[in-house]
Amino acid sequence: MPIISVPQEFNEEDLYVDLRSVFGCSLFLKCEGFNFAGSIKMKAATEMVEAAERAGVLTPGSVLIESSSGNLGVALSMIAASRGYEFLCITDPRCNLSTRRLMEALGAQVHTITEPDPVTGFLGARKDYVRAMCASDRRYVWLNQYENPNNWGSHHRRTAQEIARSFPELDVLFVGAGTTGTLMGCARFFREWHRPVRIVAVDSVGSVTFGGPPSRRMIPGLGSAERPDVLDESYIDEVVLVEEAQTVRACHRMARRGFLFGGSTGTVVSAATSWLTRNDAQDLTAVTIAPDLGERYLDTLYQTNWVEDLYGGDVLRLDEGAGVTATVPEPRSSGSRSPVLSNRR
Ligand SMILES: Cc1ncc(COP(=O)(O)O)c(C=O)c1O
Repeated sequence: MPIISVPQEFNEEDLYVDLRSVFGCSLFLKCEGFNFAGSIKMKAATEMVEAAERAGVLTPGSVLIESSSGNLGVALSMIAASRGYEFLCITDPRCNLSTRRLMEALGAQVHTITEPDPVTGFLGARKDYVRAMCASDRRYVWLNQYENPNNWGSHHRRTAQEIARSFPELDVLFVGAGTTGTLMGCARFFREWHRPVRIVAVDSVGSVTFGGPPSRRMIPGLGSAERPDVLDESYIDEVVLVEEAQTVRACHRMARRGFLFGGSTGTVVSAATSWLTRNDAQDLTAVTIAPDLGERYLDTLYQTNWVEDLYGGDVLRLDEGAGVTATVPEPRSSGSRSPVLSNRR
């Protein structure tokens, strides 16, 4: 029986959904939404705060400040409240209303940037604002999830090892890319593992992370308007980009089986099911990660008007859940389409 004193002490580590009954292919979905912050970002937030305290950067009287599209902001609001820090979250209009309310309920202040930078988008504008605030008052402490090694370190130490323990025969891991903390932590861990694991990075069309052209993205979590600082592509075997319409379809398909997940889960599941079908990979052990659950997306992803206005009236009627629009770069294996694992060691 877990008994805890601070919210970050609890996290469900070993829960997987077998998606075979939903999508007809073998894929295990690791659920990261079962902690008090409701997302995988609880791990990164905890590790970054603890490291800053150990380093003497974060001290009583400090004010935490961070740029977040939502989930890290919620996790930091919770940890700040439990440790007695003030917290200012800098976000943008894509942050769900319920997520913003959640942060405020936890005592955080939320500032929404309304104008994107013409070159670096909302992300660049959010970071500029954070830098200006830090320059204006020395009490501000920016953990900087985009560059902080404890972001990917938390997944190296926890998420990847949890998967390794549960799936000693793992062949392929699909990981969504936001700051790329989850991706790099897992990819670095499995590079050193006892058997080769194919690491497939998943991103949204319109994100520039892997060199694609920028375009409109409305679903928070994955993607970036700037190349993430912690990304090292030498650890990644393939990149799969997914259209947001496919994300929406995958989410609704799971919801119709009673599983309500967040947007980025739809993206990774769409990429993974397509990849597994395309590579005729029924015998492989395949895992992907669900960063959060669906309640925070009731007014967006799960709202018919919002979906139809953005993606067209047919988006929920065309029911082929999987669907990949692009794969970059070309797989680094022999060029065959078979899922033979490239041995990179
Ligand atoms: C819902 C959701 N999915 C995926 C991610 C991406 O995780 P990472 O920043 O580790 O790449 C995030 C990050 O905020 C998220 O909130």
